[in-house]
Amino acid sequence: MSLANRRILLGVSGGIAAYKACELVRRLRDLGAEVRVAMTESATRFVSAATFQALSGQPVRVSLWDESAEAAMGHIELARWAERVLIAPASADVLARLAHGHADDLLTTLCLASAAPLYVAPAMNQQMWAHPAVQANLALLRQRGVVVLGPAAGSQACGDVGSGRMLEPHELRDALVASFGGGALAGRAVVVSAGPTYEDIDPVRFIGNRSSGRMGFAVAEAAAQAGATVTLVAGPVGLPTPAGVARRLDVRSAAQMQAAVQEACAGADIYIGAAAVGDYRPATVADRKLKKRAGADLGLQLVENPDILAGLAAQTVHPFLVGFAAETHDVAMYAQDKLQRKGLDMIAANRVGGGLGFESADNALTLYWPGGSLELNRAPKEALARALVEQVAARYRAVRA
Ligand code: PMT
Repeated sequence: MSLANRRILLGVSGGIAAYKACELVRRLRDLGAEVRVAMTESATRFVSAATFQALSGQPVRVSLWDESAEAAMGHIELARWAERVLIAPASADVLARLAHGHADDLLTTLCLASAAPLYVAPAMNQQMWAHPAVQANLALLRQRGVVVLGPAAGSQACGDVGSGRMLEPHELRDALVASFGGGALAGRAVVVSAGPTYEDIDPVRFIGNRSSGRMGFAVAEAAAQAGATVTLVAGPVGLPTPAGVARRLDVRSAAQMQAAVQEACAGADIYIGAAAVGDYRPATVADRKLKKRAGADLGLQLVENPDILAGLAAQTVHPFLVGFAAETHDVAMYAQDKLQRKGLDMIAANRVGGGLGFESADNALTLYWPGGSLELNRAPKEALARALVEQVAARYRAVRA
């Protein structure tokens, strides 16, 4: 990994996560990047400008009205100098000001004046993060091509637990490396399936499962962070499209998911099947609501759905195939059987239950591939997804490159 001679403008806004931005500067410089720091006034209440000056080896800018700094490198020149602008931490206030095009301090002015891609790493209390105003601002920023990195979920400085933690410095560094085409999956086309499928019984009822889509969405985001061009095939879930995902195809049933995956996989390098695809569907779908008949059996007949992964594996030319196996017992045995039977390159065995797997924020996986295995201990799905993607990239290189 290298960022040699890359010019990165790091914006630091006010939040306790500002202390992590110090470590970020070091990590970026370790890879050879030139880093210049612009702080908001409130950021200086958490970490002093002198700290960033020592770490970056460059004067730190705080105000638009600093005459000596303007004489050395004016703010427009600084905005032009940057190849990437990353704001970490990005407070709710800074996100709001960016979304609405304010230029009322140095940092927001630099963002408006720079043509460089803008990355933001939000950090705030979980209640603030969930607020519709914050989410609306982020949606607006995403629409304009701003890349939102994180946040992660977990315990917060204020004592709350939930989403809103800034990503770790090494994760932000990796995202910047990937943005320059240097990620572990740079140049690769990756298709990820996520979420459940719904098999309709009649206009109001369906057979579904408890997959929330969180694991698959995290995998899609991690693959994008690793530099891949990602297509996400999503079952019926209410999750926003992760940062950096190039294309999202929304489907409902297993048959629709199969068609979307087949189309997206033409020419793709890697397919990661994190979706919980329904194994069966009703033989017929009633066009009117079925009425209850007291004492009578519904007589629902189920037929088998196509196996999307096995279907891909059967094709002469197919992507590197990664499956998931959600199991409640004999996890290793069932996962290894699926690896072999479905003709996969790798499988992520997922013990479900006990707060892991479906719907939960955390998960734990064991990866199996022909001749090897690796335990990924309990962690938030986002962290696990990044570890999984790293292993997929390593195996892909070993087998295909
Ligand atoms: O969505 P979350 O709430 O975050 O939960 C995540 C998860 C538990 C759903 C996920 O981590 C997971 O384990 N997904 C696979 C779930 C599953 O049902 O696996 P399976 O054992 O039925 O299928 C094995 C593999 O074959 C999977 O990769 C599946 O996508 C694929 N498959 C299964 C059936 C089918 N008809 N076609 C398929 O391609």
